[in-house]
Amino acid sequence: MQAEITRNPAIHRARRERVLATMGAGVLILATAPEVIRNRDAHFPYRYDSHFHYLTGFPEPEAVLVLIAGDSDKTPPKQILFCREKNMEREIWDGFRFGPEAALETFRFDATFAYDKLDEELPRLLENQPALHYAIGFDTAWDTRMLGWLNAVRAKARTGVAAPTTLLDARAIIDEMRLFKDTHELALMQRAADISAAGHRAALLACKPGMGEWEIEAELLYHFRKGGCQAPAYTAIVAGGANACVLHYVNNDQILRAGDLLLIDAAGEYQGYAADITRTFPVNGRFSTPQRDVYEIVLAAQFAAIAAVKPGNTWNAPHEAALRVLTQGLCDLKLLDGEIDGLIEQEAHKPFYMHKTGHWLGLDVHDAGEYKLHGEWRPLQPGMTLTVEPGLYIRPSDSVPEAFWNIGIRIEDDVAVTRDGCDVLTAAAPKTVAEIETAMRG
Ligand code: GLY
Ligand code: MN
Ligand code: MN
Repeated sequence: MQAEITRNPAIHRARRERVLATMGAGVLILATAPEVIRNRDAHFPYRYDSHFHYLTGFPEPEAVLVLIAGDSDKTPPKQILFCREKNMEREIWDGFRFGPEAALETFRFDATFAYDKLDEELPRLLENQPALHYAIGFDTAWDTRMLGWLNAVRAKARTGVAAPTTLLDARAIIDEMRLFKDTHELALMQRAADISAAGHRAALLACKPGMGEWEIEAELLYHFRKGGCQAPAYTAIVAGGANACVLHYVNNDQILRAGDLLLIDAAGEYQGYAADITRTFPVNGRFSTPQRDVYEIVLAAQFAAIAAVKPGNTWNAPHEAALRVLTQGLCDLKLLDGEIDGLIEQEAHKPFYMHKTGHWLGLDVHDAGEYKLHGEWRPLQPGMTLTVEPGLYIRPSDSVPEAFWNIGIRIEDDVAVTRDGCDVLTAAAPKTVAEIETAMRG
């Protein structure tokens, strides 16, 4: 149990001001995520939309953000929230709602309206705005409503009212902002990483041959929630033996056997921010020689990739660094044969390593932000956060010695780019052979 990092409405307001300063004349409309039914009357746990959360911090469903860029000569910019009315009957069943009145103060808006007033108010807010920024195509139900509101404005053309003539994707501005984490976000991400790393350590200590993959999953989820995470950041992969070679294995329903490796890709989400950690270790606490040989190659590739995460390098530099080590390692194991540059050129690693070495990380586990600018891999810059996750997955094959069959290894850490390199947020999860074997012996 750690103290909660306090919510900070001023940060969300400052982000909205940045959007307003960037978007040019017009109006931005952004709805939060809908509630989703799981089956009959049961809902999936509610998760707000990440863009909406980034700009508002407002946690309830049925809410819409409207930003109106001011005309400096006449009107200042305006930040508006639509949210559910207070409703004592619903609050008895479902819990507290802010309501427009309290939301105005608490979340620092200039105006708030009841969600039920959208059809009445939105056409008015669109009137005479030159541009509409909107998450086009994200939700067809919303697209239909938006077209209805636009048509309502167009219907008033003879009264001298104009509808927006330019439609822009609201996500473009917000994606780029989200790519660079501020200190508040980095603190939340460190907390998500710390809690998730503690879960991995607990899973490592709990693991014994004969246990079910689901029992290890339970250990992880217990520690994520106990540590203060609101939810898992994604569905946990707890993959023993051959299951580790299935990249998105989530059944987690098999028995763990002595002599097999266990690959765990699991992490929690803390106040909206994801961690993303993979560790691989022997079920019985001791690596066999072939397992260790492959593990040391993946680990060396991961260290090389982490060393390549620094300003001045591009997004792809860590992947290129990992590929070089993995390709050399596959040659050392005699699984590949040839000259390294040629093998890299031919993508000879693909049968054993079929994914990239990372992705942006933040409010979404595969976070917002472009990877290329003007067709080129973008430079890494301080404040960017990403995963570094090389692996090797060796399936049974006539061309591979049986000793390597079904060895699936991935090692994944979360890193934040700093001025001269990067911080590894998830360093607390045991990673070297010695750390793993010592911890499991203890
Ligand atoms: N856990 C999802 C990923 O590693 O990309
Ligand atoms: Mn990942
Ligand atoms: Mn992962």
